[in-house]
Amino acid sequence: MHPRTWFPDRLVGRLVVLRRHVPSNLAAFRRWYSDPEIARLTRYQDGPMHPAEIERFFAARVVSPDSLALAVHLRTPGQEAGRLIGSCAFSQLDGDNGSALYHITLGEKDTWGHGYGTEATELMLEHAFEVLGLHRIALSVFEFNQRAVQSYLKVGFAIEGRARDAIWRDGRYWDEISMSVLDSDWQRRRGREQPREGGARRTSSEQVPARIDH
Ligand SMILES: CC(C)(COP(=O)(O)OP(=O)(O)OC[C@H]1O[C@@H](n2cnc3c(N)ncnc32)[C@H](O)[C@@H]1OP(=O)(O)O)[C@@H](O)C(=O)NCCC(=O)NCCS
Repeated sequence: MHPRTWFPDRLVGRLVVLRRHVPSNLAAFRRWYSDPEIARLTRYQDGPMHPAEIERFFAARVVSPDSLALAVHLRTPGQEAGRLIGSCAFSQLDGDNGSALYHITLGEKDTWGHGYGTEATELMLEHAFEVLGLHRIALSVFEFNQRAVQSYLKVGFAIEGRARDAIWRDGRYWDEISMSVLDSDWQRRRGREQPREGGARRTSSEQVPARIDH
């Protein structure tokens, strides 16, 4: 089945709404990815992306029919979706092994530290495990990005390894940390959770979650 047919139009949380990117989001990407602080946290290369690279990235990985990227919007009462604050995505979807890589960037820096990115990641994991039926989601994060590490730990990722001194940044070497979460970790964690506001707890045997509109 073509990914576009089963990748959702929107995922609705308590704080954020994820929905498909539209071409006009390129203006925000231009701003986010030319920011040195965003580059420091998200890029292997030292320094921000060039404008042409941002455009290529947006066309190939964000709005192309094969991309599994969703825009992160604040959930604003009375609006379908509020302010655009970032983007999250799966890449390297491997159907044979049931795995994918996860990426998230909140490009609007004033929105860091409010739980928006953490909830966006939870929505993506819920979709990956409960709708797509994936087994494993993995990512890598730089050791100095402790906000991201804490956010991933909060939603159930475990640290599974470190590439020692893989990143040169701010005048020293740092480790690149590998993290992953399995469907069994997710279900165990779900089993311990209380039902969330606006939605009942679900099990893996239930049908497409009510909070996902296709
Ligand atoms: C990483 C990111 C997705 C996290 O989302 P977020 O909504 O900002 O995260 P949260 O507000 O839920 O914070 C997560 C945890 O980190 C902790 N934290 C916040 N700021 C921190 C900091 N500067 N240092 C260490 N921990 C920090 C918080 O205490 C929180 O834990 P708590 O809720 O138990 O207190 C988001 O900040 C982001 O996109 N940052 C820029 C790009 C980036 O780093 N992407 C990830 C690349 S791997």
